[in-house]
Amino acid sequence: MFSDPLKAICEDSLERKWTWISLLLAALIAGVLGVYAVGSNINPPSNVETIDSSRLHLSEEFAEDNLGVKTNADGSMTVTLVAARYGFYPPRIEVPVDTPVTLRMASADVLHGVHVPGTNMTTMVVPGYISEVKTSFPETGEFSLLCNEYCGLGHDQMWSRLVVVPKPATGEGS
Ligand code: CUA
Repeated sequence: MFSDPLKAICEDSLERKWTWISLLLAALIAGVLGVYAVGSNINPPSNVETIDSSRLHLSEEFAEDNLGVKTNADGSMTVTLVAARYGFYPPRIEVPVDTPVTLRMASADVLHGVHVPGTNMTTMVVPGYISEVKTSFPETGEFSLLCNEYCGLGHDQMWSRLVVVPKPATGEGS
């Protein structure tokens, strides 16, 4: 007969039995979630890519002149943004509708968040890390890009503009 390791902390056998049942249930649930997550290739929406926040302006990607919207060879867009107290730079970005967009963001100071109400675009911008979100915007219009992590007294005023424009009529973007 196996010796119950719970015996050391609990005398009552009925109590030990239910402790085992709850432990096994927890293990079963964790196991099912684990198998499902691995099987379906579900990962946390994070992007472990580090950057020195105090030297963003010296990095190539996040240097002031390189911020904003770029069109890639395959027609998708890459948007590079810096979040800093209290704004997102550049303060206005324009992307075409229904086009794959990769947003890459870095904080120059403290923790910020980015949220575009009415879209699925939301993420934290953690200092020291590059936040990356891949999405596309299905509706044209002007959207506010808001900070949703309290970052200081100017947090309420920390927002910028995302403009989703109709696709160019013909040809590749240039
Ligand atoms: Cu940035 Cu709140």
